[in-house]
Amino acid sequence: MSSAENKKRCMAMVLLMVGLFGLVIAQDQFLYGTFPKGFLWGAATASYQIEGGWNENGKGENIWDRMVHAYDGGIKDNSTGDVAADSYHKYMDDVAALKETGVNFYRFSLSWSRILPTGRIDQINQDGIDYYNKLINALLDKNISPMITLYHWDLPQPLEDIGGWLNEEVVDIFGAYANLSYSSFGDRVKSWITFNEPLVQSHLGYGLGIFAPRVKGSGKTDYIAAHNQIKAHARAWRIYDADYRATQNGEVGITFNCAWDEPKTQNPEDIEAAERALQFELGWFAHPIFSANGDYPPIMKEYIASRSAKEGYNMSRLPEFGQTWVNYIKGTHDFFGLNHYTSRLIYRVKGGNETSYENDQDLASSSDPSWPSSASSWLKVVPWGFRKLVNWIHKEYNGVRLIVTENGFSDHGQIKDDDRAKYYTSYINELMKAINLDGCNIFGYTAWSIIDNFEWSSGYTEKFGLYSINFTDPRRPRSRKFSAEVYSNIIANNGFPASSTNNMTMYPFKIQFPSKQHNLHDHL
Ligand SMILES: *[C@@H]1O[C@H](CO)[C@@H](O)[C@H](O)[C@H]1NC(C)=O
Ligand SMILES: *[C@@H]1O[C@H](CO)[C@@H](O)[C@H](O)[C@H]1NC(C)=O
Ligand SMILES: *[C@@H]1O[C@H](CO)[C@@H](O)[C@H](O)[C@H]1NC(C)=O
Ligand SMILES: *[C@@H]1O[C@H](CO)[C@@H](O)[C@H](O)[C@H]1NC(C)=O
Ligand SMILES: *[C@@H]1O[C@H](CO)[C@@H](O)[C@H](O)[C@H]1NC(C)=O
Repeated sequence: MSSAENKKRCMAMVLLMVGLFGLVIAQDQFLYGTFPKGFLWGAATASYQIEGGWNENGKGENIWDRMVHAYDGGIKDNSTGDVAADSYHKYMDDVAALKETGVNFYRFSLSWSRILPTGRIDQINQDGIDYYNKLINALLDKNISPMITLYHWDLPQPLEDIGGWLNEEVVDIFGAYANLSYSSFGDRVKSWITFNEPLVQSHLGYGLGIFAPRVKGSGKTDYIAAHNQIKAHARAWRIYDADYRATQNGEVGITFNCAWDEPKTQNPEDIEAAERALQFELGWFAHPIFSANGDYPPIMKEYIASRSAKEGYNMSRLPEFGQTWVNYIKGTHDFFGLNHYTSRLIYRVKGGNETSYENDQDLASSSDPSWPSSASSWLKVVPWGFRKLVNWIHKEYNGVRLIVTENGFSDHGQIKDDDRAKYYTSYINELMKAINLDGCNIFGYTAWSIIDNFEWSSGYTEKFGLYSINFTDPRRPRSRKFSAEVYSNIIANNGFPASSTNNMTMYPFKIQFPSKQHNLHDHL
C-alpha cells in the first residue's frame, strides 16, 4: 500500500470517527436547558381545514369548496371541509384548548371568501368580519395573541375564474384584501403572515394539479403562480409598511415550507444536489425576499434556462421579475416563517425528458429506512434535520429573525399518541440546540395543529392535532391527547430545565413527563 493511500485511509478513518461522534452528539443526545426568556409558543390551524360553514351567512365559494364538490374530488376518503372541525361555530372550544395548552399565540388563517365572497373589496360580507372579530377578541380575553395568515390556499373561486394565481391582476386584488384585513383587525392583531407555503400552492395547485385549483403544467404554470404570489406578498408588505406600521406597530412576514435535504452520499455531485434541492424548494421563494441581491437563486435561473433552451423555448420557463420588481420585492419582511416536518436524502440524477419542476433540478430523493414513519407517506421523523435546516437558513439569509410557524406529526387520531409526544420533544429539543448551541436567531415555535382537521387531499385519514375531534359526532367534541400535555409541559418550563448533573442523556421520552391520568371524555 502506498503512503498516499495510507494517508487517505487514515484521513477517512479520522473523518469517519469525527462523523460518528458528531452524529451521536448532534443527533441522538437530549440536551437539558431552557429557551431564551420571552420565547413565544403557539399552535396553528388554517381556515379551510377547520372552519366548515362553507356557504353560511354570505361566505363565497373558494377553490377548495369547488374541488371537493366535484364528482371526482381528488380527496382520499371522498370527504370535504364542508363542516370539518366546525370551528365556525365551535371556535370557543378551540380557544379553550389553546388556553389549556398555555400557548402565547394562535396562528390561524382568514377565509378570504368569508370576508370577500367575490374576492374583491367592493362586496364586504359583514358576517365574516364579525366572525374574526369574535375570535380575535376571545383570544385576547385569554391573553393569547392572534397571528393571522392572510392566505392559506383558499382562493375565492371568482378569482380563479379569471386565472387565479396565473393572472397578475390578482396581485393588486390580494393587496386590497390585505389592506382591508389590516384596517379591520390590525388595531388588535400585531403579527401577519401574507402567504402560507407558496411552494405547495404553486406546485401542487398549479403544477401537479393535486391540490385546488388542480391546474396541471409543472415546469411552467407553477413558476407563474409562484411569481405572482411573491409579487402579491411584496405588495401586501409594502401596504402595511407605508400605511399601517406607524399606527399599528405590528409585523408582516411570510411562511415557507422546507424539508432538510441531506446529501445521500459524500460524493460532491450529491452534496451539490442537496444544496440545489434547498434552493429549488426554499430559495425559490426566500431568495427574492430575503437575500441581499433579491431575485431567484442563480442556480435555479441557470438550470431552468438551460433546460428551456434545450427544449426549444426562446426564453426560460422561469419568469423574470425585471429590476423594478426585484427592488420592490427585496427586503419585504419583518420575520422569516418556517414550516418544517421532515428530511430527505438527496442524490444527483439526470432529470427526465418531460418538462417539470422536478426534472429541472437533476436530482432525486429517498429516505433512510431507519427513520420512523408517520401516517403521512412523506413525513419521516428526523429531529436532527430540523437543527441543520435552521442553521442553513441562518447562514444563507444573514442571521434572519425566524419563527417556526408549523411543526408536527401525523397518526390516525388516537388519544394516547406517544409517537407525537416523542416527535415534539425531540424536534423542540433540536430547535433549542440551534438557539443555545449554534446561535440561531429564532423567536418562536408553533405546533401544527391544535386540533385534528381536514388534511387536504388526504381528507380525515391523517391527523395532526394536539386535541382529537370525533368527526362523526355532529357536536365535534374536542378531547385532549397525551401530546397536548407534553407540549403544555414544555411551554410551562420554557423548554427542558436541567434535572441532572450530566446534562446530556438520551431522550427521556418516558421519564421526562410523568403523565397525569387522562380521560377520554369531552372535557371542554
Ligand atoms: C370515492 O369516489 C369515487 C368515485 O367518485 C370512487 O371510485 C371511490 O371508490 C370512492 N372512494 C372511497 C374511499 O369511498
Ligand atoms: C387601503 O384602504 C383604505 C380604505 O380603508 C384606502 O383609503 C387606501 O387607499 C387603501 N390603500 C391601498 C394601497 O389600496
Ligand atoms: C417566444 O415565443 C413565444 C411563443 O412561444 C412568443 O410569444 C414570444 O414573443 C417569443 N419571445 C421572444 C423574445 O422571441
Ligand atoms: C430522452 O431524450 C433523449 C434525447 O432526445 C432520448 O435519446 C431518450 O430516449 C429520451 N428518454 C426518454 C425516457 O424518453
Ligand atoms: C363519535 O361519535 C359517534 C356519534 O356520536 C359515537 O357513536 C362514537 O362512539 C364516538 N366515537 C368516540 C371514539 O367517542
